[in-house]
Amino acid sequence: MESTSPEITPARPLRITIAEAAKHLGETVEIAGWLYNLRKSGKICFPLLRDGTGVMQCVAVKSALPEETFEALKGLTQESSLIITGKIRAEQRAQGGFEMDVEGAEIVQRVPESDPYPVSPKDHGTDFLMDHRHLWIRSRRQHAILRVRHEVIKAVRDYFDSHGFTLVDTPIFTPAACEGTTTLFPVKYFDDEIVYLTQSGQLYNEANAMAFGKVYCFGPTFRAEKSKTRRHLTEFWMVEPEMAYATLEDVKRVAEELIVFIVGRVLENRRPELAVLERDVSKLESIKAPFHRMSYDDAVKKLTAKGSEIQWGGDFGGTDETILTEDLDRPVLVDRYPSQVKAFYFEPDPDRPEVALGVDVLAPEGYGEIIGGGQRIYNLDLLLKRIDEHGLPREAFNWYLDLRKYGGVPHGGFGMGIERCVSWMCGLEHIRETIAFPRMLYRTRP
Ligand code: 4AD
Ligand code: MG
Repeated sequence: MESTSPEITPARPLRITIAEAAKHLGETVEIAGWLYNLRKSGKICFPLLRDGTGVMQCVAVKSALPEETFEALKGLTQESSLIITGKIRAEQRAQGGFEMDVEGAEIVQRVPESDPYPVSPKDHGTDFLMDHRHLWIRSRRQHAILRVRHEVIKAVRDYFDSHGFTLVDTPIFTPAACEGTTTLFPVKYFDDEIVYLTQSGQLYNEANAMAFGKVYCFGPTFRAEKSKTRRHLTEFWMVEPEMAYATLEDVKRVAEELIVFIVGRVLENRRPELAVLERDVSKLESIKAPFHRMSYDDAVKKLTAKGSEIQWGGDFGGTDETILTEDLDRPVLVDRYPSQVKAFYFEPDPDRPEVALGVDVLAPEGYGEIIGGGQRIYNLDLLLKRIDEHGLPREAFNWYLDLRKYGGVPHGGFGMGIERCVSWMCGLEHIRETIAFPRMLYRTRP
């Protein structure tokens, strides 16, 4: 074999991200990204470069560049990919506070005029944008929302990780219903078995809590709900803590603390994103403990007084939840719903067995239920009775019943839908923007 001498490559300027610009003032660096916008006037042009971390206004002067570089930049099309080399300068008037004086550019892929980037800054209808979701997520507003989502998720994990909870994830293929048989998605599992996509990790979480004390699971959950509302997805992410030796009051306390923690983090780290979204941050700043607390009975009274048709024993609809919270500055914890509207596993109130030791947390500003949970039945006979009453197959629950045979204890937990929470943080009209690729009744693409 021939021996090769080490190649001498010319030193390339340091590659940075736009978010790092402040640390490289006065230096020549390169930034790799996409053309967000372009303004030009004869001998100068201003490519606006985005790289996922921010937007940088670049200044390309004809006399300072090789002719073909200047011409290439001047004729560039939206979302073409390119790497720009230049010197970073502070510029108060620029978005982000910096500008880059262009010294060189490498076009990676030029979007042809014949097939231009479809998501232009003009107003598009919702269907068009949803069909182009894979591109739409590059735009400023969608970007801001997805960053708030990241912040919420990070806050959720940090909260549980620093409060003694162990993350134990639960399966997605499950043999039985958790939240009710009418909203299950069946999946053919090899030749002759049908399993279901999980509606909630709760049942497995209960086993994990008996092993670890305090646990949480966090993953995608599925509901075959034929609801076409601004609050429903068919696939959504849920975080679920579960605690051994816990009562309804413990569940409420953790739910309240978690929300206060999340709001604090979003306000601390995501103010620029909230500004892009034109979110009224004073609404978030007023989210402090203690939250409002109300029984289901009082909630029905309040609703009736405000003209709702609700009768005692019925579940709240989206409009009821809105009415309940529209005059409130912080969330409300509504507890003790009638057992008949709740899932099979709810512990009845010992003083009033017709109501369940369950709680829903309703967010203010009409965002409705973001958390649902409560105390679980731990008496074996009662649990068996409920499984039968709900027409659920006993065999599928044998392992779950074991948790009541071998050291059963009072325990409880809750589930929080990440997208509902993000929707509220961002002040959105519709939940579909809170996840990169939403799955809804009439949408499974792209
Ligand atoms: O109230 P849910 O159905 O409760 C449970 O699944 C319990 N097993 C959780 C537990 O105790 N471990 O759902 C919990 C939360 C709701 O409050 C809501 O935030 C969200 O999940 N959620 C949805 N989010 C988006 N789209 C849907 N279709 C949702 N259904 C529930
Ligand atoms: Mg619920």
